Amino acid sequence: MRTILALNAKGGCGKSTIATNLAAYYASEEQAKVVLEDFDPQGSSSEWLAARPDDRPLIQSIRAWTEPARAPRTTDYVIMDAPAALHGSELTALVRRAETILIPVLPSPIDMRAAAHFIQELLLQGRVSRKQTRVAVIANRVRENTLVYQDLERFLQRLKIPFVATLRDTQNYIRAAERGVSVFELAPSLVYTDLEQWQPLLKWLRSKRSLPSP
Ligand SMILES: Nc1ncnc2c1ncn2[C@@H]1O[C@H](COP(=O)(O)OP(=O)(O)OP(=O)(O)O)[C@@H](O)[C@H]1O
Ligand SMILES: [Mg+2]
Repeated sequence: MRTILALNAKGGCGKSTIATNLAAYYASEEQAKVVLEDFDPQGSSSEWLAARPDDRPLIQSIRAWTEPARAPRTTDYVIMDAPAALHGSELTALVRRAETILIPVLPSPIDMRAAAHFIQELLLQGRVSRKQTRVAVIANRVRENTLVYQDLERFLQRLKIPFVATLRDTQNYIRAAERGVSVFELAPSLVYTDLEQWQPLLKWLRSKRSLPSP
């Protein structure tokens, strides 16, 4: 059972977007058994699942903030969506559940500063320092050729953790979210660039570097 957590204490950076799109990627492109565990009482990813059309590949929903987060043994992928403002013992408890953590960061000075503090806290987690949980960052909602994106790129490259993807700012994520689908399930002509941008992330997630070291 592969366990992947979208995490960042900063609100609105794209945790639910990454979690829902990744869940739908594995369900639709790999025909895998996927459970989406929503740890956020805001319920963004469970509501996304509730809006998912019946003819789309099934993703099982667990509202982990109110029910036990126990995925069936036969599950291939558990994708977890974390709430914002997660610190201390609650952070430790969630980190313990994940082999891999994905941290989306927005191109904004406030988000970069918040991410720097959060990543510092995360690197102090025993599981992360022992490489039992692997961490990567993703630049999200990027508008290329903007100065602030160049700042973000520089910031992410300087971190001690891998920088595995850059996702552009596009209505495609909003359109998909509305309908309970992912960018992988929209018309290919519309999402060509987005699918390309997910490839390095998906490749990293397939590699040993994203898994606990033996
Ligand atoms: N790459 C993107 N392009 C355009 N819009 C995006 C992108 N990523 C996220 N969004 C939008 O930004 C908003 C915040 O994203 P999302 O809900 O995924 O963040 P979050 O980190 O889960 O927020 P919260 O901390 O509130 O749980 C949403 O409206 C989402 O549709
Ligand atoms: Mg969210």
